[in-house]
Amino acid sequence: MSSSASSGAPLVLLALFLFGSLVALSTGNLNQDFDITWGDGRAKILNNGELLTLSLDKASGSGFQSKNEYLFGKIDMQLKLVPGNSAGTVTAYYLSSKGSAWDEIDFEFLGNLSGDPYILHTNVFSQGKGNREQQFYLWFDPTADFHTYSILWNPQRIIFSVDGTPIREFKNSESIGVPFPKNQPMRIYSSLWNADDWATRGGLVKTDWSQAPFIASYRNFKADACILSSGASSCSSSTPSSSSTGRSWLSEELDTANQDRLKWVQKNYMIYNYCTDTKRFPQGLPPECGTS
Ligand SMILES: *[C@@H]1O[C@H](CO)[C@@H](O)[C@H](O)[C@H]1NC(C)=O
Repeated sequence: MSSSASSGAPLVLLALFLFGSLVALSTGNLNQDFDITWGDGRAKILNNGELLTLSLDKASGSGFQSKNEYLFGKIDMQLKLVPGNSAGTVTAYYLSSKGSAWDEIDFEFLGNLSGDPYILHTNVFSQGKGNREQQFYLWFDPTADFHTYSILWNPQRIIFSVDGTPIREFKNSESIGVPFPKNQPMRIYSSLWNADDWATRGGLVKTDWSQAPFIASYRNFKADACILSSGASSCSSSTPSSSSTGRSWLSEELDTANQDRLKWVQKNYMIYNYCTDTKRFPQGLPPECGTS
């Protein structure tokens, strides 16, 4: 009795350990969710699927894409961007559908000289039309550590967030004739590439290849999302209980606290907003600008 009790504790610990690692595997293995698509060995999934790295050198960049296609979701990824002199490099992380009338939701990170700020560039395409750029500086050094970049995409709105702070909201303005991405499933794509012809203030600064390879890292992917497979959505086949409890993001909106945080970011960190660029749109700002 007493001997079985004393040998029981390690068994319980072992069971906890095994259970814990199984749970981590099922939610956090990048091998399950992504395929490396290009870069000839420059992109790698490491540490049993915990970490993904993209690399860029003079000969090539690299990239990956999700195995799944999503139609709405709340998608988080932690990124740590190219450190040091990253001027000319662009790390793109986005959702996109296919075809000539595609939809797309973009995060792009434009590198900079050591000590100078990255630009976080965002855009939304619906039915092949973009031109909806907003750009931001960040309130931290995105190369020093991992930070969480999130896209909430539901039928009413798209919200871009950084470490849980909303930085941009693109509302569904179909009622005033603006197409909204809501019919075409999208995949997640990411790539690290050289764009020193435009990313650095119109090509002013060139990529310093003596600093190569440039490396960006990814971890802790989490998708609370409707997955499309052979035309059917994982969300429509759900039991009523899971859809009512587990999918609040499908109708999520910004509460007043988050609206205030969005305003704080836009006031202090936004450096470009297409909705205020009257020079670019002499015939009038795009219609959705009146609503968001
Ligand atoms: C790089 O740093 C300069 C100087 O602070 C800044 O004006 C620019 O917006 C930064 N980003 C890029 C991509 O050039």
